[in-house]
Amino acid sequence: QPLVGLVGWRGMVGSVLMDRMEAEGDFGLIEPVFFSTSNAGGKAPAQAKNEGKLKDAFDIAALSKCDIVITCQGGDYTTEVFLKLRAAGWNGHWIDAASTLRMKDDAVIILDPVNLPVIKNALGKGGRNWIGGNCTVSCMLMGVGALYKAGLVEWMSSMTYQAASGGGAQHMRELLTQFGTLNSEVRALLDDPKSAILEIDRKVLARQQSMSGAETENFGVPLGGSLIPWIDKDLGNGVSREEWKAGAETNKILGQGEGFGTQATPVDGFCVRVGAMRCHSQALTFKLKKDVPLADIEAMIAADNAWVKVVPNNREATLKDLTPVAVTGTLTIPVGRIRKMAMGPEYLGAYTIGDQLLWGAAEPLRRMLRILLD
Ligand code: HSE
Repeated sequence: QPLVGLVGWRGMVGSVLMDRMEAEGDFGLIEPVFFSTSNAGGKAPAQAKNEGKLKDAFDIAALSKCDIVITCQGGDYTTEVFLKLRAAGWNGHWIDAASTLRMKDDAVIILDPVNLPVIKNALGKGGRNWIGGNCTVSCMLMGVGALYKAGLVEWMSSMTYQAASGGGAQHMRELLTQFGTLNSEVRALLDDPKSAILEIDRKVLARQQSMSGAETENFGVPLGGSLIPWIDKDLGNGVSREEWKAGAETNKILGQGEGFGTQATPVDGFCVRVGAMRCHSQALTFKLKKDVPLADIEAMIAADNAWVKVVPNNREATLKDLTPVAVTGTLTIPVGRIRKMAMGPEYLGAYTIGDQLLWGAAEPLRRMLRILLD
């Protein structure tokens, strides 16, 4: 059985990956070796067969013994270790959740239900670097990839509603702590049905505006009861790095070039952090290359893969199936609110949601492992 090194398996994405690998029986097909950046020599988890102790994740010789390395440790680790490992002559497969290597020419962004041909083509040419995509991009393509595959998309605009988990575990804790702080600030007034809502509102705002230090350490400003229309770095041209990724990665995943402004299919929009826990939502506007009947579009989307689910465009179905709360913890990618827009018959609107830790992070990695094991 192939020796598979696991790095960053204890973190949030890593833990979701471990659960999924367990659920799908992946550990039965590999010889897992567990690495740690902080606890080498410590006890490995139960899945470890012969290797009872954690190995040092910076030990290039130990990593070099692996046929495959899967890392959810993050970009700093990749930057520190990847080139050293390759320089040491290691020729194994590197499967990585971090964005560090994503746009490199010799890396493929893996999302096999959408781009298996791109993956197989790279494998055939000796590809060894398999990088998970940005979570919004992966979830979006799992939902509406059919339209791209059919060559129907002239351009797409995506307005995102991104969950706290995209920032990391600490961000989720910060959001919940802020909700609690705001609630306790006005609890007595809330308990009194006769209290004035504008007084409650004033107190909440005053508390939000006074949040500082540890209270907003991760997001920088309050997210509880607010939103943040900027995610990731400021590229200095009015575009956030998260917004740049949408276009660059979508085109790269589809194997059709990636330059911003010169994309084969322009994809652009605004990325916004909202107070959801771990599901990213996106409102999509497409300009299609031609007028396609709505029923055909729905059928195409529904038939694309085993996880996408078309939600009828009515209020009841939307409230039931098209919310982060309904989707969290599942691999289902609902696509709803599908309708032609007022601008004309080629303009299509849709709304999609995905668990940012599953299709957005862990699932494409374990599926790549399975492709390599086949
Ligand atoms: N960059 C994403 C976010 C997370 O901040 O929501 C992972 O791709």
